Amino acid sequence: MSDIDRITQDALEAIAAAGTLDELDEVRVRVTGKRSELAGIQASMRDLDPEGRKALGQQLNAFRGTFQAAFDARHEALAAAALDAQLESERLDLTAPPRRLPPGRPHLLTQVEQEMLDVFVGMGYRVAEGPEAESGTYNFDLLNIEADHPARQEMDTIYVDGFDDVVLRTHTSPVQARVMTTQAPPIAVVCPGRTYRADAADATHSPVFSQVEGLVVAEGITMADLRGTLLEFSRRMFGADREIRLRPSFFPFTEPSAEVDVSFEGAGGNHGWLEILGSGMVDPNVLAFCGIDPDRYTGFAFGIGIERVAMLRHQVRDIRDLFDADARFLARF
Ligand code: PHE
Repeated sequence: MSDIDRITQDALEAIAAAGTLDELDEVRVRVTGKRSELAGIQASMRDLDPEGRKALGQQLNAFRGTFQAAFDARHEALAAAALDAQLESERLDLTAPPRRLPPGRPHLLTQVEQEMLDVFVGMGYRVAEGPEAESGTYNFDLLNIEADHPARQEMDTIYVDGFDDVVLRTHTSPVQARVMTTQAPPIAVVCPGRTYRADAADATHSPVFSQVEGLVVAEGITMADLRGTLLEFSRRMFGADREIRLRPSFFPFTEPSAEVDVSFEGAGGNHGWLEILGSGMVDPNVLAFCGIDPDRYTGFAFGIGIERVAMLRHQVRDIRDLFDADARFLARF
């Protein structure tokens, strides 16, 4: 067997044995590189006579053809295998079980607020919002709350330091004043939002709470409209068989004013009334202050504590549970 035959046989075996593209390349360098046996044989060609040179040249050409064909075939196979391995390693298993993340949901107060707004929007009201840091003009003056009214005293109202006459709104009624000073009747709005009072926190009080207040101003609005609206609201929120009763009350911005109770049937035939909101006919002074003609228009207003509705509906005993952000409590709703 000639040297070339032996080199050919070695090279084909080494090519077949190469397991990676890198190993294959090492074979190429070792068999055909500058310091290979083959390079030595090629260099010796110039010492041969023309006959011998021609014979060796043919042998070398045959070797190159055989080597290149084997090399290319192996290269193709190894490249395909490498691609398969890469695709396999990057494969996404679409049948793998998902990581379990507990689903989130709106806070109970947000849920109740949305339900309350839905009831009124369904009756044709529009939603109006205003700032939580509010001027005394909107929070008090336009609402007929005089300077010496107890609601204005420091113990109830949180004043904003460094500003003249800016308070954290004590109710969302200032939004009603903003609507009345900028829009002409007929008006039907509900005003949701946070409100603030300098109260110490206990089971039924929180210095931050939230309200949905409502306002309707148009020609010929009467207390009967107020009663019908609040009865519909109570039945939608608390149950179709509920009744309401209006008790005389006082608010500076309504005359007459009424506190509204909703009936309940408890366990064991236990029944009674629960206070849910304050309301009344908009005081003619308030209409006039806000630029609406009190001889032509009348209106009613009501203010509902969202926490109170949430607590009554879901038997929450302590208002602080609504603000503590304890996931175990919140997960119940
Ligand atoms: N603004 C009153 C409060 O916060 C509630 C209310 C609104 C009462 C509208 C009557 C009419 O207590």
